[in-house]
Amino acid sequence: MIHIAMNSTSDIVNIIKGRRNTKRFTNRDVSDKEISVLLDSAVWAPNHRNTEPWRFFVIRKNSPLRAEIAKELIDIQEKASGNYLSDIYKQRINDEVQGYPPFIFVYSLIDEIEEITEENYGAACCSVQNMQLVATSMGLSVGWSTGKMTRLKNLQRLLEITEKLKTVGVLTIGEPQWSINKGRTSYEEFTKWF
Ligand SMILES: Cc1cc2nc3c(=O)[nH]c(=O)nc-3n(C[C@H](O)[C@H](O)[C@H](O)COP(=O)(O)O)c2cc1C
Repeated sequence: MIHIAMNSTSDIVNIIKGRRNTKRFTNRDVSDKEISVLLDSAVWAPNHRNTEPWRFFVIRKNSPLRAEIAKELIDIQEKASGNYLSDIYKQRINDEVQGYPPFIFVYSLIDEIEEITEENYGAACCSVQNMQLVATSMGLSVGWSTGKMTRLKNLQRLLEITEKLKTVGVLTIGEPQWSINKGRTSYEEFTKWF
């Protein structure tokens, strides 16, 4: 039997319950080493048929890709509104993107068989949860988004994606500015016992 060093069950449950999706971060730096710890946990997620279907693209704080991402976001907003954005507004978008802590684009492999594509997506979501829980244990927090940033027109080119991938989301990782209390409905509402 493999020995697993364990904290108490209540520690793990507290981490699960203490994890919060976060959008506002302090400017504390998050190192490559910390991101690597998260990614190392990510690849230990369950994955049916051992397809290891997750793909990660890390955008560091000083990455030149940030300027490209900001340009794409400006493009989306201009197309959506049918107007050119003012220079001040464009600068604000650029500053916002440059100011984010590190972020990771997460994808799962698309297979020719739909069932496998679905299993792959499920596994990649588990990999995200691994990262979120380990981040929480490190005093960090993750913002999981499937919003505008995952729909940039040239994302595939920017991230040099060559495989057929399904979007899982973009995760922003940093120290949370504050922690919100959230509730959950009791599991009893969603569970039948036989
Ligand atoms: C697949 C998925 C996509 C998500 N996309 C977004 C998003 O685009 N924007 C956002 O603000 N939160 C997003 N979230 C985070 C949820 O809104 C968040 O988990 C929910 O509000 C519950 O809060 P909690 O995670 O702090 O418990 C996403 C979560 C999941 C699982």
